[in-house]
Amino acid sequence: MNAFVYDIPTKVYFGENQLGHLGEELKKYGDRVLVCTGGGSVKESGLLDKVLEEIKKAGLSFVELSGIEPNPKVRSVNRGAQICRDENVDVILAVGGGSVIDCAKFIAAAAFYDGDAWDIMTKKYEPEKALPIFDISTLSATGSDMDAGGVISNPDTHDKIGFSIPGLLQPKVSFLNPSLTFSVSPYQTACGSADILSHIIESYFVTPDESMYMLDRIKESLMKTVLEYAPKALEDPENYEARANLQWAASWAINGFTGAMQTSEWSCHPMEHELSAFYDITHGLGLAILTPRWMEYILDETTAGRFYDYGVNVFGIDPGLSEMEVAKAAIEKTKTFLSETLGLPSTLREIGIDESHFPVMAEKACSSSVLQGFKPLKKEDIETIYHMCL
Ligand code: NZQ
Ligand code: ZN
Repeated sequence: MNAFVYDIPTKVYFGENQLGHLGEELKKYGDRVLVCTGGGSVKESGLLDKVLEEIKKAGLSFVELSGIEPNPKVRSVNRGAQICRDENVDVILAVGGGSVIDCAKFIAAAAFYDGDAWDIMTKKYEPEKALPIFDISTLSATGSDMDAGGVISNPDTHDKIGFSIPGLLQPKVSFLNPSLTFSVSPYQTACGSADILSHIIESYFVTPDESMYMLDRIKESLMKTVLEYAPKALEDPENYEARANLQWAASWAINGFTGAMQTSEWSCHPMEHELSAFYDITHGLGLAILTPRWMEYILDETTAGRFYDYGVNVFGIDPGLSEMEVAKAAIEKTKTFLSETLGLPSTLREIGIDESHFPVMAEKACSSSVLQGFKPLKKEDIETIYHMCL
């Protein structure tokens, strides 16, 4: 069992009618706010007006950065950082999905750096300071509201790079109101649910020394929560209970609690980030296509035991079957959930992706050496998995 540090310094206001606390919380960190938003969903829903009203009521001033893209681009980070410097911003408030929150995090760090924000992603510049970050999350998926990481894309180089800086990029305060996710489309709800599930799978499929009984059972419950409530949210988008379960599961899937003992890299995420870097696809969709193929590829006598626990405890498969039988049935159920229950495309060809960039994507996914996930993957392994997804 690995030693670990548990430190989640994000204050969460969960549920309806909590926005009245926004002003008092922001005030603790300064009086000029940069409000970051995406492509317009928070304007259309009327949320942005309510947020700006709360900021004004608290006697604070604000500037806005709108138009942050899904798979946020480094140009938005640079734009935001420039505004922070020009306008003497004290605190950053992201209102939107994971892309807006991720972008806000790197703006917070880039505000103290005069160069290109891409230097942060390539680690040419290592930030030691960042502005305080707040968020009002509107989509249940990434868990960016409680983690210290983010992912930024550079379309010029087809790079998508993500990492965490604990302490620095962790939001100070997050507002999680499940009602704000009622308007999320069925497609984004499905992709978000696939992302939550993948975050838990990534930390569940680890070697025994990187997990413990208590955490395993919690992860299984989180996975069952997604299996139970994603279909309910798809069927009835305004089902508060379903949206609330998905939202809190999204946060706990990645906030550092369930993955506390891990040292290994994840497997499907690095492979997916290459797909969205090259093709700008929705992150959760890429994961939904990759995950069952990755499972099929790594299944053997050495890994079947873990799949057995997954199959029996998450999907309720007959424990009397052999390890291999349970493992295969569990992979089949994972595939069915992602493609049939969530209704997501299950092949790369369906979304217009062919094999032309596989060699370079595979090379980048393993950083030219080995992807140290549950089962180490070399470039050739990753290329094979991409081919299995066609
Ligand atoms: O841009 P707007 O107009 O706001 O619309 C967004 C966007 O088009 C829309 N949306 C968000 N909330 C909505 C809504 N539409 C209607 N009603 C609402 N309440 O949904 C679309 C997708 O939003 P986006 O923020 O891109 O989705 P998501 O939250 O899934 O974020 C994806 C990004 O996060 C990264 C992904 O790689 C991707 O770049 N990740 C971040 C992680 C982290 N910070 O720890 C971990 C993840 O593994 C992931 O890599
Ligand atoms: Zn993810």
